[in-house]
Amino acid sequence: MTSESFQIVSGSPEETTSVGMALAGWLHDGDILLLHGDLGAGKTTLAKGIAEALGIDAVVASPSFSLVNEYDTGPGAPVTRLYHLDLYRLQGADDLASIGFDDFAGPAKGATIVEWPERAATVLPDRYVLIEIESTGAESRSLRFVPVPDDGWWNHRFVSLRTRIEAAITHGSPPFL
Ligand SMILES: Nc1ncnc2c1ncn2[C@@H]1O[C@H](COP(=O)(O)OP(=O)(O)OP(=O)(O)O)[C@@H](O)[C@H]1O
Ligand SMILES: [Mg+2]
Repeated sequence: MTSESFQIVSGSPEETTSVGMALAGWLHDGDILLLHGDLGAGKTTLAKGIAEALGIDAVVASPSFSLVNEYDTGPGAPVTRLYHLDLYRLQGADDLASIGFDDFAGPAKGATIVEWPERAATVLPDRYVLIEIESTGAESRSLRFVPVPDDGWWNHRFVSLRTRIEAAITHGSPPFL
């Protein structure tokens, strides 16, 4: 565990969506969120909350067949674009090359969410926020937010991330758009 990492408990899918909405307002272009957790943990539920708060009208579903979906965000959103990757069906390095995975690790124009990032373990970006989601009951999920690397670069942003997320859990997410 790192010094800045923190953990919260979501008690329902709606609460996870609220966490996603709160997280959306914190994002900057170039941010990469790696969502780690078993099948049905709630990765896409979190992603949907993020997309909704960014003013994305399209239906956000796991991009199972395309590996990556790209969305334009709405007016006033803090990021220009959202990329949603789901690497569950990744077949290997060729697939990674075909979706331009390296570009997400570089200065991607937009924020990137990756489900099943462990499928690309050998080529993960240098800097990202890891969100580990674990089922702890029928509707209970533990969400742990981990800054990577833990080199101090994330300090200030993690303080504000934690404040936002904890407020979302206590009061529901604040509107920001
Ligand atoms: N607290 C919770 N947060 C999120 N989802 C929850 C929660 N409680 C129950 N659920 C249920 O768990 C399921 C989560 O599905 P979701 O598609 O978000 O998972 P996933 O991690 O993306 O799975 P996959 O690896 O198959 O893509 C949904 O059916 C949702 O209703
Ligand atoms: Mg999913």
